[in-house]
Amino acid sequence: MKLKPLLEIKNITMKFGSLIANEDVSFNIHENEIVSLIGPNGAGKTTLFNCITGFYKPFSGKTIYLGKDITNLPPHRICKLGITRTFQIVKTLNEMTVKENVMTGAFLTTRNRKEAEESAEEILNITGLYKKKDVLGANLTIADRKRVEIARALATKPRILMLDECMAGLNQTEIKEVMNLILQLKDQGLSLLIVEHIMEAIMPISDNVVVLNAGRKIAEGKPEDVVNNEEVIKAYLGVKYHAKSKKS
Ligand SMILES: Nc1ncnc2c1ncn2[C@@H]1O[C@H](COP(=O)(O)OP(=O)(O)OP(=O)(O)O)[C@@H](O)[C@H]1O
Ligand SMILES: [Mg+2]
Repeated sequence: MKLKPLLEIKNITMKFGSLIANEDVSFNIHENEIVSLIGPNGAGKTTLFNCITGFYKPFSGKTIYLGKDITNLPPHRICKLGITRTFQIVKTLNEMTVKENVMTGAFLTTRNRKEAEESAEEILNITGLYKKKDVLGANLTIADRKRVEIARALATKPRILMLDECMAGLNQTEIKEVMNLILQLKDQGLSLLIVEHIMEAIMPISDNVVVLNAGRKIAEGKPEDVVNNEEVIKAYLGVKYHAKSKKS
């Protein structure tokens, strides 16, 4: 028997004036699954994140979470229900320490400072940030800013974590660390929706891949199927990644 999806994205269309940024996009996310959302620049990936998380009100279509329509709820309500996202352009709070940055996420689920601190410290450990907990946001490297972004999102205790290009600008070692963190989060029961351009990082860890091009879904399937899809190769991957993935 096929499991019921945790999140159903149903026929989402989003327009900016005459520009159609998302056109009739549908796919599901199941419990404990890593779904990646890929496609060229301007394909509509971040716009779809904004529609799912309540930052944009889609022109048409629905988002169903645990069987309930959440389409027109505001971002904080959607976050409280268990869907949290990070931002492509990181939003580190520069005057706060790493720990305080993470605590701002924890305050979504508790008003108690001690509880928020404990929760933040646990997440700082998981994300490898504990040693830097007293460093000011302003003094962090890009890799640590991205990590703080993930940690703050985790502090809201999500069931679905949505990551928008959290590996961009990182070196090979840092990318590997984020890949391991993502797999560890999946092990702990989370579901993830990940936007990423670094195919070598995202393909090996994805259960399902959704490909957008010019706002439309052009393919969906297991990584090995998607990388061999002619339309996806033509629109996005090019022959380089395709040939590389065939060798390995
Ligand atoms: N707030 C906005 N107002 C007007 N147009 C927008 C807005 N946000 C996005 N767009 C346009 O919608 C299209 C999709 O943009 P989006 O940022 O979703 O793409 P993306 O797939 O995330 O690209 P990238 O990989 O470069 O981050 C683009 O043509 C973009 O210029
Ligand atoms: Mg984007």
